[in-house]
Amino acid sequence: MIGQPFKPVAKWHNPPEWLELTNTIRSLAETDRFGRQLAAALTPGDVVGLVGELGSGKTTLIQSIGRALGVGESIYSPTFVIAHHYTGRVPVYHLDAYRLETRDMASSAALDDYFETDGITLVEWADHVLDMLPERTIWLYLQVVSEHKRQFQLFLPQPLEPRWISWVDGEK
Ligand SMILES: Nc1ncnc2c1ncn2[C@@H]1O[C@H](COP(=O)(O)OP(=O)(O)OP(=O)(O)O)[C@@H](O)[C@H]1O
Ligand SMILES: [Mg+2]
Repeated sequence: MIGQPFKPVAKWHNPPEWLELTNTIRSLAETDRFGRQLAAALTPGDVVGLVGELGSGKTTLIQSIGRALGVGESIYSPTFVIAHHYTGRVPVYHLDAYRLETRDMASSAALDDYFETDGITLVEWADHVLDMLPERTIWLYLQVVSEHKRQFQLFLPQPLEPRWISWVDGEK
């Protein structure tokens, strides 16, 4: 059952428009393929905010993105620390904001650094730290349709950077 529509909340004075791309994913293999395709377009400095219920596939997708970015070790969710740092072809930062709230100033300060990096930052439960995420955040909303089926909605900030233009054409 597909739930609520998700729109990145416009908290900024001049919020960007987003190009919304919806993907129906039918298997783990398709999730992996989507992760590899997305990774191919990511560049250092990017922040990807993943939003979706428990078990929707955020960590699974991040594992595929990480592998595609050349991370050799297994990626698992940071439970007792805010972030894990991996070394692929570029630095990869994996954050899980499940237990965080933006109003917790201590964690806000600790998180800030991850949104201006020389690497790629992937944030699970990004809606928990919405106020902190940069305007250029790439959003991904994951919904469970059935056991192996998912709907992934990607929101790319507009105007699209040139690297996304050909990527979007390839997705169609
Ligand atoms: N197409 C699919 N894509 C992703 N995961 C799938 C798919 N089909 C089945 N699954 C299963 O759904 C589960 C997804 O778990 P995962 O830990 O990735 O979710 P999550 O969104 O990170 O959850 P949490 O909020 O608890 O961190 C896994 O057990 C995975 O095998
Ligand atoms: Mg997870």
